[in-house]
Amino acid sequence: MEPKTTMPGHAPVRQVGTVTVTDDTTGRTFKLPLLEGATGPRTIDIRKLYAESGYFTFDPGFTSTASCESAITYIDGDEGVLLHRGYPIQDLAEHCDYLEVCYLLLNGELPDAQQKADFERTITYHTMVHEQLIRFYSGFRRDAHPMAVMCGVAGALSAFYHDSTDFTNPVHRMITSHRLIAKIPTMAAMAYKYSVGQPFMYPRNDLGYAENFLYMTFATPFEPYKVNPTLAKALDKILILHADHEQNASTSTVRLAGSSHANPFACIASGITALWGPAHGGANEAVLKMLEEIGSADRIPEFVKRAKDKNDPFRLMGFGHRVYKNYDPRAKIMRELCYEVLGELGIKDEPLLDIAMKLEKIALEDEYFVEKKLYPNVDFYSGIILKAMGFPTSMFTVLFALARTVGWISQWKEMIEDPQQKIGRPRQLYTGATPRSVVPLAQR
Ligand code: ACO
Repeated sequence: MEPKTTMPGHAPVRQVGTVTVTDDTTGRTFKLPLLEGATGPRTIDIRKLYAESGYFTFDPGFTSTASCESAITYIDGDEGVLLHRGYPIQDLAEHCDYLEVCYLLLNGELPDAQQKADFERTITYHTMVHEQLIRFYSGFRRDAHPMAVMCGVAGALSAFYHDSTDFTNPVHRMITSHRLIAKIPTMAAMAYKYSVGQPFMYPRNDLGYAENFLYMTFATPFEPYKVNPTLAKALDKILILHADHEQNASTSTVRLAGSSHANPFACIASGITALWGPAHGGANEAVLKMLEEIGSADRIPEFVKRAKDKNDPFRLMGFGHRVYKNYDPRAKIMRELCYEVLGELGIKDEPLLDIAMKLEKIALEDEYFVEKKLYPNVDFYSGIILKAMGFPTSMFTVLFALARTVGWISQWKEMIEDPQQKIGRPRQLYTGATPRSVVPLAQR
């Protein structure tokens, strides 16, 4: 059959048949197109269902709903596969640096040597933030959570870069993407510096992306600071592992905000807020707090028991994933990185790592976790690495936001460039009061 839709650079979406739905109460039947993309589950096209039948579909949490067509990231949760533009995450982490992955996500292909050099230069020369933006920080309390600061400051970018916010202009879209990738590390390092009462460090154009972030975070103006190359490389890998992850909660939030043609900087701020929650990006902070609370290996069974108790809201943080029903491929790389970083820093006995390893083993053998296919996710080991590098727990999710900014803006750009793009407007299954008359106050 004919391709249904084809966006530039996308594999055609083909209609491979129809699915017939029968309403048993009336006998009415509806034929719905069955679509196939490049790979992944077949998808039933329900776009005309309401117009033709008067019925909605019900899917809270979007467990079965494909909200868009996308050619950026593919996940096979059963097999534990993650591809960006077709490349496995393991290959990207091994052979590329973060900015190459950013280029790939944004442009669809890996850069050649010249494109890589040009891209690095562009990003490097956008790393400074407007001097006036620096004033925003002093409006926050010193003990503000850095994610709260990031939500505010990222949104404030909308007020600074009026020259690149015409979403209909492809050049504007690209400049905005570059600005976001370049400025987020500067803003994140400033959030940290503000919280510890140290002076902000301006970015340095002679440093690489991850190196520069470590420098802006940990250097002070009083003495030379040499970035540890092993740590910079490890951080670069952590950024790659978090760069994009298909239509997760924060990315869907960015797309939904952007679907009303809101300013892209404001859309990214909305992504940061969605990421903050402990069920999503906030899990890395929650994992470390949990490991600290467990305190010693002999208390693990008690916590595993709690996690399995239906009447206890406690969950093992860093375990489980909406899509992965297998070991998260990013968690495997993160585990290896954890040993590398601790080794480089000469940390031989890290009690939290010891607890994490034992917890992982116990949970992976436990019937409850096996049956529900709950495996460690990307956040399980990242906190231990970031802690060893010197980041306070409150900065963990900020680092996630920093890395994910490229995914958000690439997905935003793809959405805006989609000729089928419409404002996102879900419907509902109404369960409230049916029409009734207001009783005047005196009679209530
Ligand atoms: N500990 C204990 N039980 C769990 C856990 C966990 N970490 N995760 C899921 N379950 C159980 C649920 O209680 C549920 O049991 P039930 O079927 O008996 O009701 C079942 O497994 C399915 O869980 P859901 O919550 O329905 O799965 P969902 O896809 O909605 O949630 C989520 C996924 C939010 C990630 C969940 O696994 C969780 O809360 N994990 C801990 C937080 C975490 O690590 N988040 C990071 C996710 S990765 C990321 O955003 C980078």
